Amino acid sequence: MGIQRRNARSAVLAKQRSARLRVPRRIEFTRRSSNSPERLTEGRRVPQAARRIQRDMSETTELSPLIFDRWSPRGFSDRPIDPGTLRSLFEAARWAASCFNEQPWRFVVAEKSDPAAFERILGTLVPQNQAWAKTAWALAISAGKKTFTHNGAPDRFGLHDAGAALANLMIQATAIGLYVHAMGGFDAAKARAEFGIPEDFEVGAAFAIGYLGEGQVPGERTRRALADQAFGVEWGKAYFS
Ligand SMILES: Cc1cc2nc3c(=O)[nH]c(=O)nc-3n(C[C@H](O)[C@H](O)[C@H](O)COP(=O)(O)O)c2cc1C
Repeated sequence: MGIQRRNARSAVLAKQRSARLRVPRRIEFTRRSSNSPERLTEGRRVPQAARRIQRDMSETTELSPLIFDRWSPRGFSDRPIDPGTLRSLFEAARWAASCFNEQPWRFVVAEKSDPAAFERILGTLVPQNQAWAKTAWALAISAGKKTFTHNGAPDRFGLHDAGAALANLMIQATAIGLYVHAMGGFDAAKARAEFGIPEDFEVGAAFAIGYLGEGQVPGERTRRALADQAFGVEWGKAYFS
């Protein structure tokens, strides 16, 4: 970061402090803070080269490192996640936005410390996912409520908001050196029966949580061009050139 930008940033932070806004260091979204030694926790071992590749692919350089550093590994370390840390991920999900503040997401969760419960979630995954997800410390399945609680009307945002909650969870995980890998490859009907997920909830995604496994690096990460994703008021016509 150049001296001018650093000064400008310091001025902004000072202003925020004086306005009594609490801005914890951890959410200063700068590349510098991402790479500072105190933030490189033991569980956060993405090689710098891999990180640079992701950044070089980006169409903008001003994204939070929490976005750049999230990716989906296929192998986790056997390091346990302490209960408070795991809880913080679901607390992050809890604070997601939702239509009518319905908070339609629910999660079924199991940790390796309860092998029987862990096996029950693992058993709903397709074999290809089981092969690597078994190395995770925790497994979970999301669900989204199909109706609004206040009036029983259909809530077409139930799974949408459950997805937003999972995204929050992933960002919190990234911030503290954990990794999350979502999975659609599981038997949703089996999960519904196995965990008593009510009919008023749509089964969402399974996901694995853990510290990064030895030798895990992101493969080639590809994305559609932004021009193919954000349109002006004419469908298909790029908004951002
Ligand atoms: C809803 C959902 C379902 C997914 N299902 C699977 C899956 O069954 N197996 C798998 O290995 N990865 C699965 N993924 C991971 C995606 O393949 C991955 O997020 C995507 O390739 C982008 O890579 P990245 O997460 O590393 O950026 C899923 C991701 C999401 C969000």
